[in-house]
Amino acid sequence: MNKPITPRKRQHLAFILGIGLGLAGLLFLSQRDRFHVHGPMNTGHEDLKCSTCHKDAPGTARQQIQANLQFVLGKRQNSADFIHAPVSNKECLECHERPNDNHPVYRFLEPRFLKARQALGPDRCLSCHAEHNGRRVTLTDTGYCRNCHKNTQLRKDPVDVPHDRLIALKLWDSCLGCHDFHGNHIRQPAKTVDKIIPPEKITAYFNGGLSPYGEQRHHPAKKETDDDN
Ligand code: HEC
Ligand code: HEC
Ligand code: HEC
Ligand code: HEC
Ligand code: HEC
Repeated sequence: MNKPITPRKRQHLAFILGIGLGLAGLLFLSQRDRFHVHGPMNTGHEDLKCSTCHKDAPGTARQQIQANLQFVLGKRQNSADFIHAPVSNKECLECHERPNDNHPVYRFLEPRFLKARQALGPDRCLSCHAEHNGRRVTLTDTGYCRNCHKNTQLRKDPVDVPHDRLIALKLWDSCLGCHDFHGNHIRQPAKTVDKIIPPEKITAYFNGGLSPYGEQRHHPAKKETDDDN
């Protein structure tokens, strides 16, 4: 025999139901936030609009879903990008084009860089500057010059310990102590090893601190891309 539900019990049930709905709502919100706030923007990117890097994938949402369904069913070779296209060098270069970059990434597509590509991915900005990390340079290794400069030799070497000697001694962590990777800072590299920038200053710069290479640059970054207004 069923007992009648007393008003008091009804109040109780409503209360429990309320808490349940509230918790579900909180869970939903936190999941949503986790999607939107992926991690702190990298140094200098704090004010960029999301859409400067996250471009819409080609096609409408409906077309994208259909294409992906066909992929799952084996009727299509590749999956389609959903909502957003992956971020590529193209987006970065829209604001960071530096015509005299010492290390322009496109150069590393040449066959002779195959091994370096596999070890380091020097053909992609994101290999060294992964976004949403609250830092400036995310590749922590500072000796990766070894991948390409094992045979670097200067005819009239101006440095007190010449380059071939530095390389024979495997002093690969010294390179960034005199050279900035892209050569975009307006400066001259030191000619004596006692002037090498200490590694901890370089690490601090990578992590978002002051530049040991000075503040002046040949090509400052653009703030917004053209198609963004
Ligand atoms: C400077 C470029 C840049 C900007 C600006 C930027 N992002 Fe990203 N974001 C990236 C990169 C690079 C990734 C890594 C995944 C990829 O390659 O697409 C990423 C990944 C993500 C992801 C994870 C999705 C995935 O595919 O892994 C989310 C979510 C995201 N970003 C949201 C945002 C939001 C929200 C904003 C604006 C507040 C924003 N991003 C601004 C570059 C950027
Ligand atoms: C909409 C323009 C825009 C886009 C797109 C963009 N950046 Fe930036 N970036 C900036 C601005 C502005 C700064 C602030 C520093 C400055 O003025 O040079 C900056 C700073 C940086 C810095 C630190 C520079 C410093 O000296 O502090 C790095 C590294 C960087 N961006 C790499 C990237 C990479 C990699 C991508 C692609 C994933 C990218 N940026 C996409 C505009 C952009
Ligand atoms: C192999 C690693 C590597 C790759 C690939 C790489 N960078 Fe860098 N980047 C560095 C290092 C190391 C520094 C710090 C030394 C310096 O300032 O040049 C740096 C500094 C920067 C700076 C700040 C100094 C400046 O030039 O104004 C910007 C902006 C930047 N990178 C953008 C990019 C973009 C855009 C790409 C792709 C086109 C890219 N980087 C590819 C390693 C890399
Ligand atoms: C993926 C291969 C690769 C990596 C990694 C690499 N370089 Fe280079 N570097 C090159 C090439 C290619 C050139 C152009 C030389 C030429 O013109 O033949 C170059 C040129 C240079 C130049 C001379 C720029 C000029 O023309 O005045 C300097 C300095 C330099 N690299 C330093 C470094 C340092 C320091 C590192 C490590 C932080 C490094 N490189 C990492 C391939 C690389
Ligand atoms: C004590 C500072 C210092 C150190 C350490 C140093 N260099 Fe240099 N490097 C110089 C100077 C000075 C030049 C002369 C050219 C110039 O003014 O840019 C130069 C020139 C170069 C060139 C250009 C060669 C050319 O033909 O124009 C390359 C490539 C290079 N260095 C790579 C490296 C690599 C790789 C390392 C690490 C093994 C390294 N350097 C360590 C100071 C340094």
